Amino acid sequence: MIGTGYVGLVSGTCFADIGHQVICVDKDKRKIEKLNASISPIYEPGLDELIKKNFISKRLSFTTNIDKAINTSDIIFICVGTPARKGSIKVDLSFVFKCTKEIFKYSKRKKIIVTKSTVPIGTGDVIEKLLKKKKKLFTVISNPEFLREGEAIRDFRYPDRIVIGSNEKKVFNIMRKLYSPLINKGSKFFTTSRRGSELIKYASNAFLATKITFINELANLCEKSGVNIEDISLGMGSDSRIGGRFLRAGPAYGGSCFPKDTKGLVSAADKFKINLSVVKSVIKSNQNRVNLLTQRVHKILGSNIKNKKISFLGVTFKPNTDDMRDSTSLKMIPYLCKKGAKVNYYDPSGEKKELRKIKNCNYRSNIKSNCNGADLVVLLTEWDEFKSIDFKKIVKNSKFKVFDLRNLYSPAEMKKNKIKYYSVGRPNSI
Ligand SMILES: NC(=O)c1ccc[n+]([C@@H]2O[C@H](COP(=O)([O-])OP(=O)(O)OC[C@H]3O[C@@H](n4cnc5c(N)ncnc54)[C@H](O)[C@@H]3O)[C@@H](O)[C@H]2O)c1
Repeated sequence: MIGTGYVGLVSGTCFADIGHQVICVDKDKRKIEKLNASISPIYEPGLDELIKKNFISKRLSFTTNIDKAINTSDIIFICVGTPARKGSIKVDLSFVFKCTKEIFKYSKRKKIIVTKSTVPIGTGDVIEKLLKKKKKLFTVISNPEFLREGEAIRDFRYPDRIVIGSNEKKVFNIMRKLYSPLINKGSKFFTTSRRGSELIKYASNAFLATKITFINELANLCEKSGVNIEDISLGMGSDSRIGGRFLRAGPAYGGSCFPKDTKGLVSAADKFKINLSVVKSVIKSNQNRVNLLTQRVHKILGSNIKNKKISFLGVTFKPNTDDMRDSTSLKMIPYLCKKGAKVNYYDPSGEKKELRKIKNCNYRSNIKSNCNGADLVVLLTEWDEFKSIDFKKIVKNSKFKVFDLRNLYSPAEMKKNKIKYYSVGRPNSI
């Protein structure tokens, strides 16, 4: 596995756990040092234990020595990042191509090269070209990863489907064998062309992002028309053709995948002169969502928020992960601080380096010290430990308000406790 981030580390560890011999390589020395001490560099429930177990049983090893790792392996998974290029919707494939060149340099015998990273249509073709001078050694295939941070181990063990894209059919059997412990437990094994597989991943993420954006826009309509968005989600989602997941109104979608993959899909389609107008609208609507929710803080606290104490509960883009990439908090918090608010935040996954340099923004190590004296508590990420907070007891400010971006709390309960409460997509949200 080249790249030991969320995808490479989780899938590498899980491959070892189903009996394979796995080497995880990363260029980041500190990550590898931690891993060799059996400490996970990322927060993912259950991962520490699984790393330890497979490390001790010697099925899993960690190294920065890419030469040795490449030479001892039969199948090489490229799991490096594919971020959006700065200021562009295009995908930055430099990490993928850099490790392709390393694979080319160090390979001395036959290998299957698998892109597990999310890559645009045709990337496999480019990789093949880069390996052309030793082409007899390589079969380049696509096997996108669908795991979700926070539930990654379960998602690896019980995937809805395993997608393998190859232009050479003989590889399908090898990959089927690799995944056989999962297939035997009922996971669907789906084969297609290499480009088909590359596109399935983008199409899936763009569709899920569309569902979130759709329900977020409907939440705006519900607020104005006195309807409860949760009834709409339930009423719509009960239709098996639609399905209830990804239909919960909340903040803008974020994380390491949806924002960059929606843009990456539009950019790839542009190359083929295809206008993906639906996905373009989704990207725009999602950007508007961040602004709309930030402006709502003004509606709640008034236009002058100088010296107002605002406490965030959760800053990651979703619970059970430490991932901050494209979280709504990264736009809201700097804006509010710039307007003079004093922002505290607490997140169960710890302090965030991304927020460290922001003036007037401070990390607090528990819910109580975070919320003490707040004018406004903003619930941004629905971690379990936020589900039953006695706000009256901990905030200790007679006039505090709660802005719940995840509809985690009951309006009736808040009313009973005489707490000024705002949420999203419900009648009287604000
Ligand atoms: N994070 C997710 O939930 C998720 C889910 C599905 C798919 N994906 C896709 O998987 C890919 C990886 O995502 P991630 O979140 O794991 O990324 P990440 O940034 O967490 O990890 C990437 C790792 O690759 C390492 N790396 C980069 N270049 C290298 C090189 N030449 N040699 C060795 N190591 C190198 C980096 O040091 C880093 O540790 C992306 O394409 C992403 O879109 C991510």
